[in-house]
Amino acid sequence: MDFCSSSKKAASSLALIVFLSYLLSSSSKLMCSASSEKNRSSIGGGGLFWSTEKEEGDFRKAEMDNSQKIEETTEEQISGGFSSLEGMLQWAIGHSDPAKLRETANDAQRLNELRKRQTEIKELMDKLKMPSDAELMKAAIADLNNSSSSLEDRLHALNTLLVLVEPIDNANDLDKLGGIVAVISELYNSEPEIRTTSAWVLGKASQNNPLVQKLVLDHGGLLKLMKMVKSSNLEEATKALYAVSALISNNFNGQELFYAQAGDLLLMDIMSNSSSDIRLLRKSVFLVADLAESQLQSKDELVLPFLGNRLFLKSVVDLTTSTDLDLEEKTLMAIRSLLQLSTTEALVFKDFCNLGEALEKMRQQFEKLLADEDLREYVRDIEVLRREVEFIFSQKLEKVVSRVPT
Ligand SMILES: *[C@@H]1O[C@H](CO)[C@@H](O)[C@H](O)[C@H]1NC(C)=O
Ligand SMILES: *[C@@H]1O[C@H](CO)[C@@H](O)[C@H](O)[C@H]1NC(C)=O
Ligand SMILES: *[C@@H]1O[C@H](CO)[C@@H](O)[C@H](O)[C@H]1NC(C)=O
Ligand SMILES: *[C@@H]1O[C@H](CO)[C@@H](O)[C@H](O)[C@H]1NC(C)=O
Repeated sequence: MDFCSSSKKAASSLALIVFLSYLLSSSSKLMCSASSEKNRSSIGGGGLFWSTEKEEGDFRKAEMDNSQKIEETTEEQISGGFSSLEGMLQWAIGHSDPAKLRETANDAQRLNELRKRQTEIKELMDKLKMPSDAELMKAAIADLNNSSSSLEDRLHALNTLLVLVEPIDNANDLDKLGGIVAVISELYNSEPEIRTTSAWVLGKASQNNPLVQKLVLDHGGLLKLMKMVKSSNLEEATKALYAVSALISNNFNGQELFYAQAGDLLLMDIMSNSSSDIRLLRKSVFLVADLAESQLQSKDELVLPFLGNRLFLKSVVDLTTSTDLDLEEKTLMAIRSLLQLSTTEALVFKDFCNLGEALEKMRQQFEKLLADEDLREYVRDIEVLRREVEFIFSQKLEKVVSRVPT
């Protein structure tokens, strides 16, 4: 995949060399055009060649129309088989746009040279072979750990890690290679872009990964990330909140630490500030929903008393007045879980948060939006969720009412 995307960027003359070397070596190493038609695989390099050209954007329209024909012919040629290398090259030339090929390959002499350089090309291909993920991570971590590394090197190293830590095995290896400490150190870099990307890497590596979560928590990453959430740099704040969320999701130790560091106030400050950025709002209420759900699953273990706090609940319910459907949906999910907690009180939702009115206003808003064809389907889904919340709310209220003697 990496090879494919890099080859797309290559100049078309390189594409030709790759194509020729593919023909010469007749190996299937380069079969990354992921053709589902396996029968073409023995000469699938042709597919690579042409798709490369198409992706370049400088492919002339006439050629585009021809490419299908060319590919079909390729199959015929396979069944016939090429008697010689010469035959393959002749075929390659014969089925290419002559003008373009002349431009690139100039003349037969050039092709002969290419053939002579077959070994060189093979060596080059071996050198081009991608290093393993672990090797790449090691190199990136070494760049971070090297005090002489330029800002550019650091950013490049972090962006490399960002891609590499996605698979869980790589994320686990990150610590073995000393990467977690290295990336946490970059949270203290004076350059916002470096801090932002570091937060992003830590968030990605921690996502659904209890091992990495624990390591980042043990190395003191959470407190620094929580401070970064308050940054006036929006990108930094957003990525930091993403990382905080990934770090404490389904992690009780992380949640306790979050609470001990006034995480509830951090979220409330965002949720009750009318100038808050929409992405921060969505991430905040998503985290609330996640925490409430996690609390709901844990039953006895009460880690987050603030989830029952009336001011906190009101700052969540007030988000229902937003006109951003995504935020409204996430808010409804948060309320749905919060309502089911034994630590929240129905009357607080009713009298202090005015949840009944809020839900009715949402109903009216959604009804109007149903007229919009583009939104209709999405709005219907959210309305189902809204009704569910309404139902859970009424049940919670009923329990209270039936307990009160009349
Ligand atoms: C590949 O060839 C076999 C046998 O010639 C044929 O049955 C099959 O349908 C072909 N598959 C494709 C994807 O063309
Ligand atoms: C650190 O980086 C500098 C500059 O890029 C480089 O010359 C040096 O070899 C690196 N040191 C290590 C230990 O990799
Ligand atoms: C980082 O560099 C220090 C020396 O400057 C070295 O002791 C440490 O092992 C290095 N860590 C990694 C992960 O390369
Ligand atoms: C509300 O958010 C804006 C924008 O992030 C910020 O400048 C302001 O200080 C915040 N207000 C309060 C009271 O936190």
